[in-house]
Amino acid sequence: MINKGVKIKEAKGKLGVLLPGLGAVGTTLIAGVELVRNRFAKPFGSLTQIGTIRLGKRTDNNVPLIKDFVPLASLDDIVFGGWDIYEDNAYESAVTAGVLTQDDLNKVKSQLEAIVPLKAVFDKKYVKNLDGPNKKQGKTKMDLAEQLMDDIARFKNENQLDRIVIVWCGSTEIYLEHDPIWDTIESFEKGLKENHDAISSSMIYAYAAIRSGVPYANGAPHMCLDIPALIALSKQKKTPISGKDFKTGQTLMKTILAPGLKSRMLGVKGWFSTNILGNRDGLVLDEPLSFRSKEVTKASSLDYIFQPDKYPDLYGNLYHKIRINYYPPIGDNKEAWDNIDIFGWLGYPMQIKVNFLCRDSILAAPVALDLALFMDLAQRAGMHGIQEWLSFYFKSPMVAPSLYPEHDIFIQLMKLKNTLRYLMGEDLITHLGLEYYD
Ligand SMILES: NC(=O)c1ccc[n+]([C@@H]2O[C@H](COP(=O)([O-])OP(=O)(O)OC[C@H]3O[C@@H](n4cnc5c(N)ncnc54)[C@H](O)[C@@H]3O)[C@@H](O)[C@H]2O)c1
Repeated sequence: MINKGVKIKEAKGKLGVLLPGLGAVGTTLIAGVELVRNRFAKPFGSLTQIGTIRLGKRTDNNVPLIKDFVPLASLDDIVFGGWDIYEDNAYESAVTAGVLTQDDLNKVKSQLEAIVPLKAVFDKKYVKNLDGPNKKQGKTKMDLAEQLMDDIARFKNENQLDRIVIVWCGSTEIYLEHDPIWDTIESFEKGLKENHDAISSSMIYAYAAIRSGVPYANGAPHMCLDIPALIALSKQKKTPISGKDFKTGQTLMKTILAPGLKSRMLGVKGWFSTNILGNRDGLVLDEPLSFRSKEVTKASSLDYIFQPDKYPDLYGNLYHKIRINYYPPIGDNKEAWDNIDIFGWLGYPMQIKVNFLCRDSILAAPVALDLALFMDLAQRAGMHGIQEWLSFYFKSPMVAPSLYPEHDIFIQLMKLKNTLRYLMGEDLITHLGLEYYD
């Protein structure tokens, strides 16, 4: 079969990027895009802005920038908005988050001050360590969803936008167990009308987005899009969805290191991971039920990469422990330590120590930007439902129920780039060399 590519609508007009949650990640994304489009800084960390893609044979020497190869929205065409439980505008919130320097924030102060959060849908039941004044009132969860749909439509009209995408940059909600009302669109909508406890605030945003035909990406670790009702709705409304939990920091390092160890058939006995962080995200994660959401997304990556069922001698007894502690003095500058006990030839032990002094939101902002741009591309290319090709960006990638998630960052990148090649009608790259048979 000859791949002729997919018909993709042009990226013409303006793209609205709406963020539930204008905290550290959200404001670092917005300020960063403003700094980049005003030529004050470069978009390091963003595949859509500086990444390249090889086309054809290595001898063809055809390696364009991704943004020149696929029709992505330009940064100049993005209009930001969002919701938050605090009334602070994006400038004030960025100052509180303390990620970017005052000098950098001053350069884009007026643009940030113009972004004032809409009233949020928020219930303290799902985020126990936070509360704020800027909240919507509604008799039922369905009322609240309708108010969000009105916000989305109004934002589109007022800013004369062509399209909108939503990226959840709000706090981590508590871990929720499966509930039967999640199983169908009908039961979920009944639950919205009856204020069912199993429907969290973030699910109300996701429902409102998908109903409005707006792509939705979940940057947090909690259950949201993962439920059958929202997956079915995304297919019915022909809307792309993706999640969950931006892959940054320690898990990014894990999914870089673990595939390398496995590729050389080196065993791992133990992997102890500890983190200290002092931002608002850290405060929320200090609460055991929100931490449980994070723990679940962080824990799964090693299991899937190492495949202990296939390699019981190497990984069958792996002891994997994750700790996150709230430590205010270091703010957004998270520190992560990993102690990895490995073994090699004849079972001889070795150790690896990783001490990553990272800036959480500096790693997350380009991920959120790429997701916004690729989710918009997906919708213009007629893709809907779970966008597994964007697994590259997530700690716990969503997949169809019959599949297992791919965590190996190198496979994820190949899948992402091959999807772009497929969309544009280029040959997929297999890295197979047949010159030995010439
Ligand atoms: N920083 C990272 O590197 C990183 C990595 C992976 C995932 N995440 C996730 O991204 C999310 C944002 O992280 P952050 O560091 O920006 O946190 P943050 O606390 O600085 O910002 C979150 C914001 O969301 C707001 N909020 C909470 N519930 C809301 C609701 N229902 N509606 C609207 N606003 C709401 C809060 O008031 C806050 O301003 C968290 O869930 C975090 O776990 C962050």
